[in-house]
Order: sequence, then structure tokens, then C-alpha cells
Amino acid sequence: MKAVSVIPGKANSVHLRDVPKPKVSDSPNGRGVLVRVLRVGVDGTDKEINAAEYGAAPAGDDYLTIGHESFGIVEEVGANVAELAKGDYVVATVRRPGRSLYDTIGTYDMTTDDVYYERGINLRHGYLTEYYVDEPEYIVKVPQGLKHVGVLLEPTSVIEKGIVQAYEIQRRLRVWHPKRAAVLGAGTIGLLATFALRLRGLEVCAFGRTQPPYLNSDLLGQIGGCYHSTKNTGLAECAKEHGPYDLIFEATGYSPLVFEAMNVLGKNGVLVLSSVTGGGRSIEVPADRINLGFVLGNKVVVGTVNANREYFEIGVKDLSQGELQYPGWLSKLLTHPVKSLENYQEMMNLLTTAKGAIKVYVEVAQMEKEQREINVRASVASVSS
Ligand code: BGC
Ligand code: ZN
Repeated sequence: MKAVSVIPGKANSVHLRDVPKPKVSDSPNGRGVLVRVLRVGVDGTDKEINAAEYGAAPAGDDYLTIGHESFGIVEEVGANVAELAKGDYVVATVRRPGRSLYDTIGTYDMTTDDVYYERGINLRHGYLTEYYVDEPEYIVKVPQGLKHVGVLLEPTSVIEKGIVQAYEIQRRLRVWHPKRAAVLGAGTIGLLATFALRLRGLEVCAFGRTQPPYLNSDLLGQIGGCYHSTKNTGLAECAKEHGPYDLIFEATGYSPLVFEAMNVLGKNGVLVLSSVTGGGRSIEVPADRINLGFVLGNKVVVGTVNANREYFEIGVKDLSQGELQYPGWLSKLLTHPVKSLENYQEMMNLLTTAKGAIKVYVEVAQMEKEQREINVRASVASVSS
């Protein structure tokens, strides 16, 4: 079967290759689930992997099949799988457990191991291919009514983890009624973070560099968020008018902003950092002032990466609520479909250069066609039995 892969360590090595089709029996104890991939979203991580700045091949292979934002349909399940059935729409989690205590209790996103395993990113092949097999523990069911936006679940799980962690931390305050939030970055993650915070009833200001109006600022307006460009007015100035913020979600990929965010965080506030910054940038910061604000204001800053199953499940609920509260909004994030795996070069080009792209994703197979074929096979099977 076809797979979009890279040679880790070799820049611009993205290519299409033939790989063996996985079998349900690849997972032990009759616990395999074979999934036909329908759509796969791509993001900055895939861009970095193709630039050879990130990512590693599984042991024994010199290539890595990329793609970690999956959406698919179950085609076959092993004898001991009761959780999922043929025809279910599903999304797979990204990380797989290592050895730490956190991994053993299902919170592999909190691993303390130095090595982490992530499908499509690090040491495990991903989903930009025709089929994958995995165990039901790592596969989350998506309701039929969400299939048109199911490919957004993985990025949603990442912001859900950050937000849930923030609320969990704030239980220290006994009573926390956050009113105002700032989201730094207005790309896919910034938009989804704003969306999830709006669903929780917060006033949200999102910040980006682009001068409004543009698609993303319009989209923010449609869910009752506001948008400010930091091109002319810095974060500190904006915050004077709209802040201070009870919660700040940082998702720009530009680490110097973290220290500005620390300065505009309100008393008892929480700052969530989610940007994976692989570079080596350093800056000078007003250390005394930031420290004093944190000490006298009892503030918290927390880093967040990845998401375990729990956050995918919360994501399903938020996407469902979102479709009711803001009908049609999520679909507008799916700006750049790519027709098939063969068009992997177009996919990379869109990812690196497309203006106005929110989510670039590959249509690996036709949703309706796959569903129909599975139904036909199921009815043939029931007639013949
Ligand atoms: C993925 C996460 C992953 C992180 C670090 C992100 O793009 O969405 O699942 O943990 O990269 O590799
Ligand atoms: Zn990602």
C-alpha cells in the first residue's frame, strides 16, 4: 500500500513509497483493529520533520511514514475487540506508552522517559497511508454526525489537554471563576483554543501578527472572540485595555512571547505553554519584574504536550457541542483539501507557503464510498450466514 514518508535527518525527503499492508493479527491477543484511513491533517510538526529538524524512524527502518492527525473507518476487528466494530468512524491517539509510572496508568502524554514514541513523529510510523492497525486503547470513536470534522480531533485533543490541565491546577484556589482569557496565536491551535474557551463561557482575545480583517479574525468574531494584531500594538498595550487575563494559552511558536505573557497574566492566573520550539533562540528579559509579579500574584505557568485518550474523548464532546452552538464553524477550518496521497508534494507546498491556510489535509479515501462498501460486505456476510 502507499505511504507518505520521509528519511529522517535528510531535508525535503518527503516521498511516496510502497509499504506492507498491516493485518489485524499484527496486534497480539486478538486485540487488533484495522482502520481504513480517510483523512489526515498536517501541521507544523510535519513541516519540521520534512525539514529534518525533528522526528526519527522506527528501529530497523530508515524511513518514517508521517501524519499524526488521523481520521478513518474501522474495517476489521480482532476476535477480542468488543469496544469497536466495522464501520465505526475513529481517530487514533498519537503517543504510545513508554516505561514510566505515568505511561503505565494511561497518561503517556505525561511520560518522564527521555524517549517518547509518537506515531508519525518519533520512532513509530504514522497515518499518511491507506491502512493502520492498532489496539482499541488508542482508538477513539467519533459519532457519525461529526465525521465531516473528525480530522480536527487530534489538534483539538492537544488544546483540550492544556485547558483541562489549567482548570485542574486552579483547583488550588478552591474557587476559580475565570472570566477573561488570551490566546496567543490565531492559527489552527489558536482558533481551536479560542473555540474551547468560548464553549466554557470565557471572554477570549486572540492575538496574531496579521493585520485584520482576514479569515482567521472573521472566524474568531463568529464565535464571539476578538482578535488583535500585535504588529503595531504589543501584547502589553492590548492587555492594558482588555486584560489582565485569568488564563493565557500560548500557541505562537515564538518563545520570546512567553515572557511578555507572564507580564500580562492576572493575579492567581495560569499561563499554558504549548509551542514546541526546536530552535536555539535566547533573549533578555525583565527578570525581577516577572518574578515579582509571579510571587506577589500567586501565578502559575505550565507546559503541555500531546494528549492521552481522555483528552480525545473530551475533544469529541466539545466538537459536538461546538457543532450545536456554532453550526458549520468547524468545517470552515478545513480550508485546504489535497486530493490523494499521490499529491504529497502539493500537501507540503501548501503547508509551507499557502496564504490563508488553516488546515491542510489529505483526502486519502472517499468517506461515503468506504462506508457503502463496508455496509455491502456486512449485508452479504449476514445473508450468507
Ligand atoms: C502533535 C502532538 C505531539 C507534539 C510533539 C504535535 O504536533 O500534535 O501529538 O506530542 O507534536 O511531538
Ligand atoms: Zn500536531
